[in-house]
Amino acid sequence: MKLVLPGVEYEQSFREYQKELLVLGRSATEMDSERLFNESADFADFVMKLRAGAEGRFLPEGHVPHTRYWLVEGGKFIGGVDIRHRLTDHLLKSGGHIGYAIRPSERGKGYGNKILELALPKAKELGIMSALVTCRKDNVASAKVIEKNGGVFEDTNIDADGVVRLRYWITIK
Ligand SMILES: CC(C)(COP(=O)(O)OP(=O)(O)OC[C@H]1O[C@@H](n2cnc3c(N)ncnc32)[C@H](O)[C@@H]1OP(=O)(O)O)[C@@H](O)C(=O)NCCC(=O)NCCS
Repeated sequence: MKLVLPGVEYEQSFREYQKELLVLGRSATEMDSERLFNESADFADFVMKLRAGAEGRFLPEGHVPHTRYWLVEGGKFIGGVDIRHRLTDHLLKSGGHIGYAIRPSERGKGYGNKILELALPKAKELGIMSALVTCRKDNVASAKVIEKNGGVFEDTNIDADGVVRLRYWITIK
């Protein structure tokens, strides 16, 4: 199992994952993928645009550069993680440095813990020594993932839409 930059060799598996999302809600990482996918001419163009996010390109207005990695097992797409290169006021209150999602059919198998574990050294490569990671208060699985990876709870924030969010800092070793 490893984190890789998005690649065309995962097209078939990624498309199967997208079908799983049709029946379930999407997280921020998944919605961003969907936005870029819908704006892309083909899968290679989509992958190029995903990768260009690290240079601050093809991002929504006001978004800072982020590096997207995919968690893969063999040729299978398992999940995605975004590492935001710096915090904005909004990210400081709500989104944090790292956002992740595991494909619906692979949840509850330990991949959530793994994707954050693998993302932390990648964040460190970007100069992030202490990562802010947040989750909705009702997202029990995500709170466990953060705590298992060394998250120290700071406080809660109430988002503009009324969602209560837990804020944690992880000191990256
Ligand atoms: C949150 C998410 C990434 C967790 O991924 P996952 O692969 O299911 O997580 P894991 O299998 O590694 O489980 C992590 C922990 O949560 C627990 N857990 C998993 N699903 C759970 C559930 N539905 N309710 C309660 N606990 C749960 C596991 O038992 C595990 O606990 P442990 O480490 O003490 O054993 C996944 O549910 C997901 O992609 N959700 C949609 C997107 C999202 O919410 N992203 C996070 C935004 S902050």
